[in-house]
Amino acid sequence: MTNSFGAPGSDRRYAHIVGWGMYVPEKVLTNDDLAAFMETSDEWISSRTGIRERRIASDRETSAVLGLKAAQQALQVTDILPPDIDLIIVATSTPENIFPSTASIIQHWLGATNAGAFDLSAACTGFVYGMDMAAQAIRSGSINTALVIGTETMSRVLDWRDRGTSILFGDGAGAVILQTRAERGGVLSSVLRSDGAGFDMLGLPTRGSTEIRSADGLADRQLHKMYMAGGEVFKFATRVIGESVRQAVAKAGIKLEDVNVIIPHQANQRIIQAAARGLGLDADMFISNLERYGNTSAASIPIALAEALQNERIHPGDHIVLVGFGGGLAWGSVVVKWGLVQPDDSTAGKIREQRRRAGYAIVRIRTRLRQWLRRISETLNALFGAQHPDDH
Ligand code: ACO
Repeated sequence: MTNSFGAPGSDRRYAHIVGWGMYVPEKVLTNDDLAAFMETSDEWISSRTGIRERRIASDRETSAVLGLKAAQQALQVTDILPPDIDLIIVATSTPENIFPSTASIIQHWLGATNAGAFDLSAACTGFVYGMDMAAQAIRSGSINTALVIGTETMSRVLDWRDRGTSILFGDGAGAVILQTRAERGGVLSSVLRSDGAGFDMLGLPTRGSTEIRSADGLADRQLHKMYMAGGEVFKFATRVIGESVRQAVAKAGIKLEDVNVIIPHQANQRIIQAAARGLGLDADMFISNLERYGNTSAASIPIALAEALQNERIHPGDHIVLVGFGGGLAWGSVVVKWGLVQPDDSTAGKIREQRRRAGYAIVRIRTRLRQWLRRISETLNALFGAQHPDDH
């Protein structure tokens, strides 16, 4: 699927990024920490992947909790209140449940009372897919404001006995808010691709419509634990990044030389270097924070974007490319022309932030009250409730 939104002179609506945020858990797990309980070393991991440490969620930090914190930060840089959000898309491979969606839970916690919400499953490419879906909804005129979140608690689904996979991943969340603007810019193009023939190269089996035990070749895979054929994924990733970036850049009507910054999925520093070589670009153009967070799957691109903005790597008018790849197999790129968005630190902005915080507190109180009422009602039913039909 390809979309081109940026024809110069068109009177279309454009989907600009107007807010961004990230959140990573406090707990740091270093390569040396890993070497304390599995046969590996800091030298092996850092030389082969570029990763030195990753963050690990506490028991209370679920994917919804991390995603909520990233979303709240994204709202803080805008003049948007939660009820202004029309659509929430959560890209994740580690949702709270199969259903209800993680997106619905975050929608409730935010007090985004006018939003539709759904989870998107495209593994590490999920955030790029989500950006495209949100931009299309804005461009069509169907909505004005979308919140796109990538959030993961990969530490919960790793097989810690598999040293080839478990050393790569970490937990975290990133979010952006997309909103309609008249000036040309924002999401200019996207290229989304999939090749399900590689379904068994990496995955996370769970209870679903496939009977795991009888599925060809999956018999010895653990339910709810991730598996990966690292070498094959490596080759696939280095091949598709260049191809996908070139296609999205052409769709946007710009040249590779016009691109200022590339934000790749953070899987392996050697993959990023190979992609830079393949595209004939300076490796410095590629944002990398692998060293500190490892691979946070669908969260890696929005986290890297938020950090790039924090570090002033992106400027108004810049063309940036987000490129993702992973399970599916799925991959995709989005070209964004950065607008003139500035963080909202005005007095009015601060008042809106207070209103948002008050809204979050009200939702928390209302949720607690509802839980207590349910418990009281269950206790009363147990004591004095209607008799079971069998009792008659
Ligand atoms: N520590 C020490 N030794 C190890 C470790 C480890 N953590 N893991 C594997 N080894 C050993 C292997 O057992 C093997 O030993 P052997 O030669 O005696 O059999 C040796 O190191 C080489 O193993 P390889 O798997 O060939 O190592 P490779 O250089 O390919 O690196 C890696 C493995 C880092 C996983 C690499 O293949 C890779 O990064 N692949 C891409 C993975 C990726 O990007 N996945 C995510 C993309 S999509 C998504 O995000 C879901």
